[in-house]
Amino acid sequence: MAKEKNYVSEAVMRRMPKYYRYLTDMEKSGIERISSRELSQRMGLTASQIRQDFNCFGGFGQQGYGYNVSELRLEIQKILGLTNTYNVIIAGAGNLGQALANYTGFEKDGFHVKCLFDINPRLIGMSIRGIPIYDIDEMEDYISNNKVDIAAICTPKEKAREAAERVIKSGVRGIWNFAAVDIAAPHHVIVENVHLSDSLYTLSFRMSDE
Ligand code: NAI
Repeated sequence: MAKEKNYVSEAVMRRMPKYYRYLTDMEKSGIERISSRELSQRMGLTASQIRQDFNCFGGFGQQGYGYNVSELRLEIQKILGLTNTYNVIIAGAGNLGQALANYTGFEKDGFHVKCLFDINPRLIGMSIRGIPIYDIDEMEDYISNNKVDIAAICTPKEKAREAAERVIKSGVRGIWNFAAVDIAAPHHVIVENVHLSDSLYTLSFRMSDE
């Protein structure tokens, strides 16, 4: 990797997962090599855009050869930090928290959901796919005694900031926030918001005739 991540623009960063997804699918279909033109056609980007994106990381591929799919996929996997594994906890074991815990796809990428935390006594003690739901009051102790990399915030919006503050204070560095509030965090903590409603509003805006 030639450049520091800090110098990579938000737009480039947001495209990297898409490259990874396409390359994973191509590798699965047995494609070994791809020209930059074909890659650009598949992805709906220009070949020059792709070259510029990859140049941010020192550039991949060879003139006249194109890209070796597996090698490029591995490079992007490393850039995305997906050669690591991550332990994940979920604050809020309601509809969304349970849906995340039920999804097996994250494990394949190295994200292991270890447990959920909730305030509801009817949920505490239950498990989702073998993943236990604990009392929220045990959350700080759990984080102190176990390696927790990421906390998914799936509480009601009114409780999300407090839940985030608690996990941050306990040393968690990655917040995956699903509640419709913005979470303030110190510099060393990364917050990734998944505002599903914003996405839906964008869809409705684009469909609207106004
Ligand atoms: P839910 O009401 O089914 O679940 C919330 C859970 O959080 C409940 O089990 C509740 O007991 C627990 N909880 C309440 N206060 C807590 C606290 N202080 N600490 C820990 N747990 C606490 O809600 P749902 O549908 O799962 O949504 C969760 C969050 O995700 C909300 O902020 C919601 O706006 C957001 N969201 C959910 C979507 C979905 O598809 N379910 C879509 C878009 C956003």
